[in-house]
Amino acid sequence: MNEKILIAVAWPYANGSLHLGQIAGAYLTPDIFARYHRALGNDVLMVSGSDAHGTPVTLRAEQEGISPGDVLARFQPEFLKSWEDLGIGFDIFTSTHTENHFECAQEIFRGLMRNGHVYEAEVELWYCPSDRRFLPDRYVEGTCPFCGYDGARGDQCDNCGRTLDASQLLEPRCRLDGTTPELRPTRHLFFRMSSFNGPLAEWLKSCEGLMRRPVLSWSLGITEEGMPDRAITRDIEWGVPVPTEGYEDKRIYVWVEALIGYFSAAVEWAKKRGEPERWREWWHNPDSRHYYFVGKDNIPFHTLIWPAMLMGCGEIYGGELRLPYDVPANQYVNFKGAKASTSRGTAPFLPEYLKVYDPDALRYYLSANMPELQDSSFDDADLIRRNNDELVATWGNLVNRVLAFTVRNFDGVVPEPGELDETSREVLEAARATVGDVGDQISLCRFRSGLQAAFATARRLNQYLDEAAPWKALKTDRQDAARSLWVAIQAINALKTALYPYLPFTSQRLHEYLGFDGLLGDSGWSAEGVPVGQKLAAPQPLFKKLDAAEILVSAD
Ligand code: MF3
Ligand code: ZN
Repeated sequence: MNEKILIAVAWPYANGSLHLGQIAGAYLTPDIFARYHRALGNDVLMVSGSDAHGTPVTLRAEQEGISPGDVLARFQPEFLKSWEDLGIGFDIFTSTHTENHFECAQEIFRGLMRNGHVYEAEVELWYCPSDRRFLPDRYVEGTCPFCGYDGARGDQCDNCGRTLDASQLLEPRCRLDGTTPELRPTRHLFFRMSSFNGPLAEWLKSCEGLMRRPVLSWSLGITEEGMPDRAITRDIEWGVPVPTEGYEDKRIYVWVEALIGYFSAAVEWAKKRGEPERWREWWHNPDSRHYYFVGKDNIPFHTLIWPAMLMGCGEIYGGELRLPYDVPANQYVNFKGAKASTSRGTAPFLPEYLKVYDPDALRYYLSANMPELQDSSFDDADLIRRNNDELVATWGNLVNRVLAFTVRNFDGVVPEPGELDETSREVLEAARATVGDVGDQISLCRFRSGLQAAFATARRLNQYLDEAAPWKALKTDRQDAARSLWVAIQAINALKTALYPYLPFTSQRLHEYLGFDGLLGDSGWSAEGVPVGQKLAAPQPLFKKLDAAEILVSAD
């Protein structure tokens, strides 16, 4: 039976262009994962959208003197184009500013209330006397009460990763005018997070061996410290209305509401397909598996707050909602020595890079350099070097010389191999096994090692060809040349599949050069061969060698 896999991807704030840190952190991995599972024949639903109500969006709107809706309207189409250009294949990429999302978010909110997990209390929140308003979350920065970092934001500390209530910040500053806000009492609804520490710890322990170790142990540590209750409403106008009397001029806390997007997006996807119940196959199905691809700073929201909400809301639209199966969060990509950040303007922005580099070259570098278990750093010179020395030299040239040689000397037809010697058989076997190995690595979210396995096989194949030297054999023993060429074609064909999740554009082209029609993604996760006699197409190089001097100037 096909497995139902929900691929839930962090919702980017619609406050600026996407940058490569986000791509390597949260967007490329789910696409690799999705392509593999789709090829395998599983039922993948990959959802995300713009986080429209986050304070980074309203802050930008205020800075530019436009509405938050205008900011969203600017970046939503840009995001869609970026996904298309980079080949990130969402089933739906919506936004949190839709009627459907409002309905779903309010329904889950009501679920939490029905089950007694929400209570009202008076709190003291930051109020800016000069702006005459309460300051939500990221409008306030200050010093983290846990680790002392002085750039902590009102919702979270980027240094120790803990989620915060803005009122916990020491030495607070208003980001609108730099003044010191004061605490003033106001009434809000609170989520009884504290009663979920036990159930969360238990659930996290059940994920042992599956969830990435740094993600799991960090999250468990927080449950041991004990999560406090959290205010889940805010004094703002932009956002999802609170479905409770007396709260007409407040909104649901954006983190609570944005997380619900994973659910509402599936509902919207089903509606748009004209099969409005289909979302249940993922959300009400105890056999479905839910993977959340997020960056390091999003971990507590996905391993603690969202699971607590899912446990707490009970039956929604007639059933219980699935808990996460894995949260394969990546660490950070540093850029010029610092964490890339849109709001701080220090980032290699994706649309700029897509003007200069082919998508598969970017995908290769980001996959090879992915911050799976520790931070990595992004660097143009390194990208160019790895493009030239690895992607072009090891894989692109291999493909090109084999296919061009076949076209030139065998009429572009896959030759009869004759009897295989032991080395040929071994190389062929290794290439076929690579398809399974890479798939296994991807299914465990070990993306770097999947790519390494494919490249190790490509290197082995280069060595085999250098030794077999069909271009020399051609003159003395045509059958011998045909044999090594046949092996190389079969091995390249297997690697085409293994590399497809990473390099979808060039793998599709290679699929066509090898004489196949249709989409590679539809032809299964298999190492099946290229039939003898199949006509190949004249190949073009799959990748461009890059000239550092030229590129570095244009990308700066
Ligand atoms: N917008 C948040 C960020 O970029 C991520 C939100 S993920 C969500 O950090 F699921 F909560 F929406
Ligand atoms: Zn901290």
